[in-house]
Amino acid sequence: MKSVELFSGIGGFRIACDELGIETIWANDIDKNASKVYMNNYPDTNYINGDINECLSAIPKHDLLTGGFPCQPFSSAGKKLGVNDVRGTLFATIIEIIKEKEPKFFVLENVKRLLSMDNGSHFSIILSSLSSIGYFIEWRMLNAIDFGLPQNRERVIIIGWKNNPSSDNKPRMLPEGDLININKKNITDINDFSKWINFSDHRLKFKNWGCAYEGKFIDLNINTFSMAKPAKKLFEVLEEHPNESFFFNEDTKERIKNSVEVNRYFNGVEIRYNQKGGARMGYSIFGINGVAPTLTSSTSRHYERYEIEGNYRRLTNIEYARIQGFPDMHCQYVSVYDQYTLFGNAVPPALVKWAINQLINNERN
Ligand SMILES: C[S@@+](CC[C@H](N)C(=O)[O-])C[C@H]1O[C@@H](n2cnc3c(N)ncnc32)[C@H](O)[C@@H]1O
Repeated sequence: MKSVELFSGIGGFRIACDELGIETIWANDIDKNASKVYMNNYPDTNYINGDINECLSAIPKHDLLTGGFPCQPFSSAGKKLGVNDVRGTLFATIIEIIKEKEPKFFVLENVKRLLSMDNGSHFSIILSSLSSIGYFIEWRMLNAIDFGLPQNRERVIIIGWKNNPSSDNKPRMLPEGDLININKKNITDINDFSKWINFSDHRLKFKNWGCAYEGKFIDLNINTFSMAKPAKKLFEVLEEHPNESFFFNEDTKERIKNSVEVNRYFNGVEIRYNQKGGARMGYSIFGINGVAPTLTSSTSRHYERYEIEGNYRRLTNIEYARIQGFPDMHCQYVSVYDQYTLFGNAVPPALVKWAINQLINNERN
């Protein structure tokens, strides 16, 4: 099995594919730092650093397409037309590549917000576009917490497999353990295409699991995750002796004077102090007995304060690697500052490894 990794960043999908014995034969990203990291870790890969739209003809035929694509709004014209007017977006480029290369499978990743943007019309366009080019589509919201990582990070994973007479169009990201927790009527509806809803009738945001096929979809809110491993806690992945540059004791002690002690957990994240009177997360001080809040590429997040053994510091670049499930030194080729951004943008390999495995190993033809 051969894969192509679009918007490859530092290779979250790459690590997952390596672990599953899938060979990554081509990868691309426009970002200089991401490319430095990718090319140093995987010097033998056929890799292009540049705009994907400039190198479409270089993409080889492949079996599996992967990509965590940037989330761009569609034009209002697209919304009015309902389907398929995604012109000029990177999502349109993905559609073009899938149409041209016809991979057997694809796995796309995006932020949770995708399900609710523009009251669901954004996701409706994505699903109807993908399902109108010959693929059966399934999506599910997954959380890094359920894959042994100490982070609350919810991501929408969209998988697709080529629809042909012999393919099995049954959900692949609903393992037996989860089916037990879904009521019988819902299971009947999933299996009865006449019960599925036309995209033109979609209402508001999409639920956290669903399937789409030939202009119709069905979705459900599924709260269990049968593969769940107990979440690791932040204290389990901390470095023992971080460099002094990560600490900000004195000014934090001053800020605490104007903060209120909170001491509660929110989405698994331990919040020790908050800025007085405000709900803003900006000056929160986190504890280490829960998980980390979603790491992001935004600089302010890199400077979040954690109370650790009576000191106050930010997380280190190596801790960012561990929280996302990458090897400690994966991004050593760029500055510490740039590592935060790259890790914050990445997909946790363990999460997509599960999705890819469900997709390709559930094939029964
Ligand atoms: C959400 S990140 C994907 C991260 C990746 N999955 C990982 O594990 O590191 C999106 C990536 O798309 C890249 N990108 C944005 N516009 C692009 C373009 N026009 N051509 C190629 N890559 C692009 C960004 O540089 C960024 O690395």
